Amino acid sequence: MKVITVLGFKGGVGKTTTAVHLAQALSRKGKTLLVDGDANRNTLGWASSGHLAPTTISEKQVPRHMNQGYEYMVIDSAARPSPDEVRDLAEASTLLILPTTPEAMSLQVLLETAQTLQKVGASNYRGLLTMIPPHPSKEGEEARTFLQSEGFPLLSAHVRLTKAFRDASASQVPVVQVKSAQAKNAWLDYEQVTREVLALLEEA
Ligand SMILES: Nc1ncnc2c1ncn2[C@@H]1O[C@H](COP(=O)(O)OP(=O)(O)OP(=O)(O)O)[C@@H](O)[C@H]1O
Ligand SMILES: [Mg+2]
Repeated sequence: MKVITVLGFKGGVGKTTTAVHLAQALSRKGKTLLVDGDANRNTLGWASSGHLAPTTISEKQVPRHMNQGYEYMVIDSAARPSPDEVRDLAEASTLLILPTTPEAMSLQVLLETAQTLQKVGASNYRGLLTMIPPHPSKEGEEARTFLQSEGFPLLSAHVRLTKAFRDASASQVPVVQVKSAQAKNAWLDYEQVTREVLALLEEA
């Protein structure tokens, strides 16, 4: 089973949105488990409507779901993990995805997360730029250039800023089930992210 953990020290950067949509897209490829590892239980709340494709559970239920033929496990983790939690998650995961918004504060916290990961010897991580404002804003490109100059590994795919994600979480459906042009693009963004993640899992 391939384990993908969505991790980050900062709150509100799109961890839950990323975990939900990555798991939704992976469900088309193979049997997928979505694990809510955050005591706030946002992911389980989202799943409670019954509209998510992956089986969604809390971390306590993970042992019961082992050896049940799941191909992918996506873990939504809580913000501000301790260094021990980071080490445990890094060791348990095939790949860590670290979402960040393009704001300076968010990028700074991302670099701190990377330092913690390096301290525990992990290199199986990629950043994901989320909530990128539309053209003519250059915030997304600037954030990418900055992170590249810091040697931070990033997915090439990014996720645009769009209200469709708030609509999706408000009605507890994945964005693929929201009927609007923005929602269509929003889903395309996560499909692109998923393609890249699948390629990285192949290499791992
Ligand atoms: N690409 C996006 N465009 C616009 N809004 C977004 C996007 N991604 C997420 N959001 C919204 O931003 C808010 C925070 O997102 P989310 O809950 O995924 O972050 P989080 O990192 O899991 O937060 P927390 O640390 O509180 O668990 C939510 O209201 C969500 O709907
Ligand atoms: Mg969350």
